[in-house]
Amino acid sequence: MKLSDKVAAEINSIKSRYQDPRSCLLPSLYVVQKADGWIAPEAMAAVGELLNVPGATVKGVATFYSMFRHKPMGRHLIQLCTNVACLVMGAEELVDILKGKYGLEPNGTSPDGRFSLVIMECIGACGTAPAMLVDTDFHENLNEKNIIDTLENYK
Ligand code: FES
Repeated sequence: MKLSDKVAAEINSIKSRYQDPRSCLLPSLYVVQKADGWIAPEAMAAVGELLNVPGATVKGVATFYSMFRHKPMGRHLIQLCTNVACLVMGAEELVDILKGKYGLEPNGTSPDGRFSLVIMECIGACGTAPAMLVDTDFHENLNEKNIIDTLENYK
């Protein structure tokens, strides 16, 4: 697998800032995941070649950290809490809204590949429930209207 020119350029830029190429692994893997939504085994190998780091080292890093995804996902990951506080404040209705608007099921990906949805137990925002993470962005006080307004900012 060949990395896109844009991804390779970003990784080369990261590489230029570090003496030890192994130090580039985390930011480089983030670049791949941001572009592809996940990190394919072939992408790990390509990152290893570009950084001149053994494939086993790349795989070891990529599979150690839970923030890296290893199966195809949408471009944006929604992590919606449906635990007690969020449930009481309408999180189940939000799940239905995501299904109706984007065809999203829990643990699924929208047909257009835009979003994947994971149901979370608690993301520490019980006082401003319901809440969700979109990629690394935190959103709280969600309701039927503002969840769609929020998600429309993620293309
Ligand atoms: S229960 Fe949803 S953030 Fe805590």
